[in-house]
Amino acid sequence: MFHPLTARIDAILRDTFSALGLPTAHACAVACGRPELADFQCNGAMPTAKMLGRQPRDIAAALTAHLSTRPEFFAVSSAGPGFINMRIAPSLLAEAAAELLHDEHLGVADQGHGQLAVIDFGGPNVAKPLHVGHLRSLVIGESLRRMLKAQGWRVIADAHLGDWGLQMGMLTSALRRRQPELPWFAPVFQAAGQVAAPVTLDELERLYPAAAEACRVDPERMAEARADTAALQAGDPGLRDLWRALRTLSLQAQQRDFSALGVTFDLLLGESDVQPAIAPMIEDLCRRGIAVESDAALIIDVARPGDGKALPPLLLAKQDGASLYATTDLATLLQRTAQLGAKRVLYVVDQRQLLHFEQVFRAAAKAGWSADVELRHIGFGTVNGVDGKPYKTRQGGVARLADLLDAAVEKAAERIDDSGYGADLAPAAKADLARQVGMAAVKFADLSGDRLSGYVFDLDRLVSFEGRTGPYLQYACVRIRSVLRKAAESGEVVGAAVPEVRAECELLLACLAFPEAVAEAVRLYQPGVLAEYAFGLAQRFSRFYAECPVLGAAIVTQRASRLAMCHLTGMVLARSLELLGIDVPERM
Ligand code: ARG
Repeated sequence: MFHPLTARIDAILRDTFSALGLPTAHACAVACGRPELADFQCNGAMPTAKMLGRQPRDIAAALTAHLSTRPEFFAVSSAGPGFINMRIAPSLLAEAAAELLHDEHLGVADQGHGQLAVIDFGGPNVAKPLHVGHLRSLVIGESLRRMLKAQGWRVIADAHLGDWGLQMGMLTSALRRRQPELPWFAPVFQAAGQVAAPVTLDELERLYPAAAEACRVDPERMAEARADTAALQAGDPGLRDLWRALRTLSLQAQQRDFSALGVTFDLLLGESDVQPAIAPMIEDLCRRGIAVESDAALIIDVARPGDGKALPPLLLAKQDGASLYATTDLATLLQRTAQLGAKRVLYVVDQRQLLHFEQVFRAAAKAGWSADVELRHIGFGTVNGVDGKPYKTRQGGVARLADLLDAAVEKAAERIDDSGYGADLAPAAKADLARQVGMAAVKFADLSGDRLSGYVFDLDRLVSFEGRTGPYLQYACVRIRSVLRKAAESGEVVGAAVPEVRAECELLLACLAFPEAVAEAVRLYQPGVLAEYAFGLAQRFSRFYAECPVLGAAIVTQRASRLAMCHLTGMVLARSLELLGIDVPERM
């Protein structure tokens, strides 16, 4: 069982405060913002002095004197108005490192206790290829899925396919114009078992934008699309069958993109799947007076007193009865909580849908469906081009996700060739390496920083082996593994990590902070916290490796200790990358 360093220090601080007759409310430590001064600091002397009407410096001095006698610290000093700075004793670092290494979860605490979290991400629409806008949802969603699992949650990842809107009617009506003789359009549809879609994927992907454009400029086409949508939703057998075939076709392509990105789903439910639940839900909401009629539509008033700007009501049903995005989301939410038993539902969706989710969550709360459930919209900013505007292809169109990923892999292959790494690799192995490096570059950039801000998709920078990049982290991991492999080949033993010099202490401190980095990343739903942590760890390792010879160390116990440090760092770094969804190549 791993005891985080902060918890150990907090316990010591509480003892010390009590021993001096001080209240323990502020007996806690934080990592020191200036590692050149201290490992941890306690800022509790100031508020404690205030509580007691005493001088903070006096209290800090008394605490410092007391703490200095503890074997867990190497040095304790007070500074400024009453800060207490602490350096951890190497023996405690050694003990904690051994504990971390032997903890099967690498110190990550069980927070979920088997409760269910549903993560809604990806959200592609039928007939539209995945584009750059889906990248972040997939990458961030997958990382959250992995982190929550690591924290002991049972996780269901659901793509919530957009398969039920007007776009389906646009497609079928365009097909009808093109090939009215198709069996699906016959007055009486003869089901002939599973029939393949009447178009290829390429055609489908061209058909949709053309149909949407036609509907936009031609009211007659739009009327046809609406009529088809209504007929489909009313259960027309021909249209239903055609819809199923088109959905399958486009899902196949989307699944290729998912797997290229290493993203997995437990459920691929669509908006269509929840339609049967909508009428009973609306009935219930009307009966309880939560949904009310307004201008021939049904709405739920979600405004609350104290809202700065009045939140518009959620539109539950329009006069024509067509299903709406929010209605579908509300019914899906009810299934997730009432039927699946989710205690957490996370929606990893573009920040521009903020209002939509606020409305849905408030409506759910009003209906009493989310009393003990955490509902969160995990928004994110846009992927931008080097010009700082939303990323577009050179022709100015929306970039397909598959093309974007291909470009990253191609750039990675170039870099690998330039650097000479891959010179002795067989072509297939080299292609594999390029794929892993390209994906790491894209994912790390996407996960870094605050998810709410956009970022610039600049392949030249992302696919670099230096700096804050995915490939740099992969390389750090591979390097550690190669040191360990060499050590094993020459019969070296991995001992216990006992730090002697500063670079070693700092490396172990960084490793020991891993569980907290994961906890913080999940608490804020910011994988960027873990990404930054991993980068910091890799940097500490570089410094350690530059200053402390490992296999070149003269004394055998020192070699064994430093190998243990390499081993622990390698495990922590690999686990961090795994939680970010980044693969580590065998070699590089
Ligand atoms: N298909 C939607 C879109 O393209 C995204 C779905 C997000 N998830 C949700 N439960 N609304 O905007």
